[in-house]
Amino acid sequence: MLKNKRNYLYGLLLTAYCLLTVGCGLRFDMQDQPRYKVYKKSEWFKDGLSTRDQVVGTVARGHLHDNKAFYTGKIDNPDLNAVVTSTVTSTGNTLVTSFPNDIDEFPIPVTKELVDRGQDRYNIHCIVCHGPVGNGDGMVVRRGFPKPPTYHDDRLRNAPVGHFFDVMTNGWGRMSSYSYQIQPADRWAIVAYIRALQVSQNPEESLKMSTKPESNAAAPKPAETTNANTNGGNR
Ligand code: HEC
Repeated sequence: MLKNKRNYLYGLLLTAYCLLTVGCGLRFDMQDQPRYKVYKKSEWFKDGLSTRDQVVGTVARGHLHDNKAFYTGKIDNPDLNAVVTSTVTSTGNTLVTSFPNDIDEFPIPVTKELVDRGQDRYNIHCIVCHGPVGNGDGMVVRRGFPKPPTYHDDRLRNAPVGHFFDVMTNGWGRMSSYSYQIQPADRWAIVAYIRALQVSQNPEESLKMSTKPESNAAAPKPAETTNANTNGGNR
């Protein structure tokens, strides 16, 4: 009886061992699958390219960005030759002084929920450099990162909302793009919160606040005029 039981146990162990070795022997890792590395040439396609062009007339799922204002913060029919004038400060910041193609109205309704969401996202992504109220004295800056300009001067108080969206989307000077971390709707939420911060720091002046670029009278005079859109296209 005991012997039988032992044999049975050995049998079981042997089966388990076989299964294990066979299983391991036949393992086919995903990294070994037949596939092309990015930009590697292909023998299969006649043009020799493994990276295929998008099929004409198709749009990848989730990429139909037909609401231009919402996805880019830019006006329809922008003037592509418009030069964006800017001044470079002694500390190396690029202060833009004209906003030819930015929209100056929010493309989505501004609700309390939107501003709350913006506060939440701002405190995750922007506060480290721009500080809790947007003076540019965040923790990272206190430890040596270049200091961003304050949101509370006439230049940025009068800057159109599209400019803030553009800065997050494409990056600005020494600030990198946040388009991968922050989806467009959340970028607008952050813009709404920045407007709230601006009002909070300057309640009286804010009543006179305009979002129209033409009224940007107090903007610094450009000492050195460059095209400030150095960070590439719209993402
Ligand atoms: C790692 C630090 C850092 C973070 C994080 C950061 N910024 Fe900046 N930001 C900067 C710096 C530095 C500048 C100035 C860049 C320059 O002029 O070269 C700047 C400039 C700006 C400007 C001013 C552009 C102008 O016209 O002068 C805006 C608006 C702005 N950031 C918004 C944001 C928002 C919104 C977030 C969060 C999504 C954010 N930043 C996150 C460092 C940061």
